[in-house]
Order: sequence, then C-alpha cells, then structure tokens
Amino acid sequence: MTKQRVLVTGGAGFIGSNLVDYHLKKGDEVWAVDNLQTGRLKNIEPYLHHPAFRFDQSDICNWPRLLEGVEWTNRIYHLAAHVGQRLVLADPVNTLSYNIRGCELILQALFDIASPARLLIASTSEVYCHCPLEPGEALKEDRMLQFPSGEFLQETYDVSKLVNEIMGLSYKAKKGIDCTIARLFNTIGTNQSPSYGMVVPNFIQQALSGEPITVFGDGLQSRSFSNVHDTVTALALLLDTPKSKGEIVNVGGDRECSIIDLAKMVKKIARSESEIRYLSYQEAYGVDFKDVRRRRPNLDKLFQLTGFKPKWTLEQTIEEIIQAKKEMQMA
Ligand SMILES: NC(=O)c1ccc[n+]([C@@H]2O[C@H](COP(=O)([O-])OP(=O)(O)OC[C@H]3O[C@@H](n4cnc5c(N)ncnc54)[C@H](O)[C@@H]3O)[C@@H](O)[C@H]2O)c1
Repeated sequence: MTKQRVLVTGGAGFIGSNLVDYHLKKGDEVWAVDNLQTGRLKNIEPYLHHPAFRFDQSDICNWPRLLEGVEWTNRIYHLAAHVGQRLVLADPVNTLSYNIRGCELILQALFDIASPARLLIASTSEVYCHCPLEPGEALKEDRMLQFPSGEFLQETYDVSKLVNEIMGLSYKAKKGIDCTIARLFNTIGTNQSPSYGMVVPNFIQQALSGEPITVFGDGLQSRSFSNVHDTVTALALLLDTPKSKGEIVNVGGDRECSIIDLAKMVKKIARSESEIRYLSYQEAYGVDFKDVRRRRPNLDKLFQLTGFKPKWTLEQTIEEIIQAKKEMQMA
C-alpha cells in the first residue's frame, strides 16, 4: 500500500497515540491534533522528534490549521471527544457541544475543499445504551436503539456520538464525503489513563498500589474488552478497504467478562494483596447512575469486511498493562 498521510484528532489520547505509533511504524506520515483535555503529551513523547510526525496542541473546534490539515491528509481518524464517565457527568453541556461541533467541522472542511480523504469517526458501544441482550446474544449494528427518557445527564456522551454517526452518514449520502463509523467497545491497553473512571486502568492502579479494588454496583454487569493493538489494527483495516465506505461497524472483543471477575483477574495477575470493595454508584459518581448490564459486540461485519482476527486475550492484555506500569515506575 502507498504511503499514507494520516490525520489523527485526539492523537495524544489512548487510542490516538497507539494509532500514531501504528502508522509511523508502517512508514506513513502522521499529523496529530489534541487539546490535552484527557490526552497526555507523554503518550506521544517518543514521536515528537520523528521526521514524519507533527503535533498541534489545539482544540479541534478552533484549530487554526483545520483546512490545511484536511487538505494535506488522505486518511482521518476522528477520535477527539469529551470522554470518561466522570468528565461527562460533570460537564454534560460541553460534552454535547464539543463532540458534535468537532465532528461537524471536520465533515464541513472535507466538503468545502471537495476532499477525497477517507474519514473514520470513532463512535461507541454506548449508542446501544440499554438494549437488552439474551444469553449468548451479541449486539449487531442494525439493532434498534433504545434511550431512556429523562436521564439526559447520563446520556449526553451517547447522544453526541449518535449525532456524529448520523451526521457522518448524512454527509456521505448527500455531500459525497467518504465516511466510515466504528462503534468501539471497551478498549484497554498501554497509554490509557486511570484518571477518568476507566475500569481496567483503575483496577490495575489500585491493585499495584495495594489500595482496595473498587467495584461499582453488584459487579455482575459485564463488558467485552479489546486490546488497543487489536483495535488499532481493525480501525486501520477498515480504512484500507473501500467496502467499509458508508458502513457502521462494531470494533471490539467479543469475550464477555463480569466486572467482579475482572477485578479478581487483575488482582491475581498483579499478585496483589488488595481487598475487593463494592461501592454504590452514588458513592462512585455522586449520582444514582443506571449502569448497562451487558455489552457484547457481534463482530461478523468487521471480520467480513476486513478479514481481521483479534490476537490478544484479556489475560495477556492485563499482563502487558501491568508490565508497562511497572517499567514506568522504575524509569
Ligand atoms: N477507549 C474506549 O474503550 C472507547 C470506547 C468507545 C469509544 N471510544 C472513542 O474513541 C475515541 C478515543 O478515546 P480514548 O479512549 O482514546 O480516550 P482519550 O481521552 O484518551 O482520547 C480522546 C482524546 O481527545 C482529546 N480531545 C478531547 N476533546 C478534544 C477537542 N475538542 N479537541 C482536540 N482534542 C480533544 C483528548 O485530550 C484525548 O487525547 C473517543 O472518541 C471515544 O469516544 C473509546
């Protein structure tokens, strides 16, 4: 494949920085933009002097080089977004407004310069919201979506991502923008910050420091996790194939794990003495949070479009994160 010019919004974030690494290793040129709200400069530090990498610290909603960046690139991963349960609950208005505005600006810029670049919009499994799952069932992309009425503070992130999806597909249908939607399920791995309420980095930090591992609710809620290396490969493969144009595609891992089992797994792999402690959602978030009980993607569409097969197990991923944390602490 010819050399790509890759623009990553949210490029100093967890998934963004892993995409930067992936494309630089492939010999591509990469331009990342990030306002460092939840992203960290240290995630991209190893590349700052790389001749094929450039970084702008800016909010995507007022990035002075937006048109220049969009003109330069032939592949955009739009990841910049207000994320993390704590941040979203604390700042619902900006979650909606920045997440929607940022995506619209990218789409409009592509249209304004009639760019043929490929655009991948990072959506989320949260758009499935409270869709019930039968035992053994997995969420397919054509599933009817269900949002509870009146719980708006909790839903601003999900709704902003759903608006991104609809906006992207409308620009595809009516303005010819080449857009693919990736509905990302829980992704974990190196460079993920524990500061914004993400479960695995929290558990690992607690296990390594000997603090109680805090499980919210009854711990029987389950999630399916994907290693960020697998996620990044899947996202890149989606943009490698023209078959993904205009498609909504689940990206994630399909092995379900309850949060209590996850806590026990982290404790065991970290050889930690931490106790496992239950917290109510009120204690955890300061509001009576209604958590989703189960989340598991059907990945048939991803596999059919890209031929992708995940390589990492959950245990290997937890080992990798713990190892990286220990190395950082020793450095
Ligand atoms: N990690 C997951 O499990 C997961 C699951 C579903 C969806 N996603 C989506 O994937 C994307 C990346 O998530 P992540 O887990 O890497 O989180 P992250 O917080 O590490 O990455 C988001 C990045 O966007 C930056 N950012 C936020 N608002 C910005 C703005 N207005 N302008 C410029 N930069 C901005 C942040 O500083 C951060 O670096 C997000 O869009 C998120 O919604 C992630």
